[in-house]
Amino acid sequence: MNRRQILRDALAFGSSLALANTLPTVASAQRRHGGGVGGASKALVPQCNQFFVGCQAGKYELTQPNFPQVAAANFNLLTPGNEMKWTKLRPTPDTFNFTDGDWIVNFAQQNQMQVHGHNLCWNSTANPAWFKTTLNKSNGKQYLTDHITKVMQHFKGQVISWDVVNEPVVPWSKRPDGLYPGPWIDAIGPDYISTAFHAAAEADPKPLRILNCYQVEHDTPDQDRGRANTLALVKKLVQQKVPIQAVGIESHLNATTPLAGQKFRDFLSEIVQTGLQVLVTELDIDDTEVQGSPADRDKIVGKAYHDYLAQFKGISNLNAVIFWTISDKFDWLNTAKDPKLKRMDGQAHRTGVWDQSMKEKTQTYDSIRSVLQTLC
Ligand code: XIL
Repeated sequence: MNRRQILRDALAFGSSLALANTLPTVASAQRRHGGGVGGASKALVPQCNQFFVGCQAGKYELTQPNFPQVAAANFNLLTPGNEMKWTKLRPTPDTFNFTDGDWIVNFAQQNQMQVHGHNLCWNSTANPAWFKTTLNKSNGKQYLTDHITKVMQHFKGQVISWDVVNEPVVPWSKRPDGLYPGPWIDAIGPDYISTAFHAAAEADPKPLRILNCYQVEHDTPDQDRGRANTLALVKKLVQQKVPIQAVGIESHLNATTPLAGQKFRDFLSEIVQTGLQVLVTELDIDDTEVQGSPADRDKIVGKAYHDYLAQFKGISNLNAVIFWTISDKFDWLNTAKDPKLKRMDGQAHRTGVWDQSMKEKTQTYDSIRSVLQTLC
């Protein structure tokens, strides 16, 4: 794939979003209460033609009071939290279950939202239990290729972008290349990444093909290493003409860990120089260590959103920002098993832009909305 092809695909991505991106002139009362499912105005989306502002949601959240209205009123992109992962789509080695994935696509279509597919391949333990007994060196490549082919063809024309490989690099990897150890590395080796991208390009060349990366945003030695390993991987894939088109920066941030600042901006610039698109794919803020009253905490989290996003000013290849946790009511950190995510005071997390009762946190909302306007 050459640079012109990448740009052409990127423009195609941009022009499809223009369809969904109407002028955000929703009055504040309307945005607070949602403005009705089905309205085309997307209040958080900046007034420019080539930009997505998305949210993550599952079928559960989208059938609870007020959540679907808020999602539909504010965002022009929807990504499913779990409905398109292997665990959902592949109950057994030989079967596919698209019921919930189709439900998400249908919700998006009814509400003038595009769909970002998440994800086609991930080394995490969040894979079907049958991987342990079935996946091996002789069939790994076939399983991966068949899955990507079948899933992308099923959702053809309905999904605008795919996280083709999720979290390729992790800070805790003991491998020198930093790759996430797990079933795909065991079965295929590091080439699982190029296998996945080739299969995706073959199955349906239209959706944007993303390498979705995490833990590269903060100023810690781990994340210094994560940025270096991620960049080395991205450059290698581009050099080997693997059909990757974009890098997703997950952006699961921590409110009390410093951002990497210039080191992060340099990292972004190097990605931009490879010609790839950049997306913020899973933005939320871990407030486990944030002290104070709910109002104090909201202020700190709101500022963390703002300051993080402000770093993307001038990054011309950025064309989407996706929020992972828009409401405190459905914060995945509250149910995550990791004991490090439990707050000392036993309180729930306050990561959302909307609170437990789906009421907008106005200061946070306004500062996010204004910084988004500067990004395109
Ligand atoms: C999370 C989901 O939001 C949760 O509902 C689920 O229990 C665990 O996974 N990086 C990713 C996402 O790429 O798929 C994860 O989503 C969050 C971390």
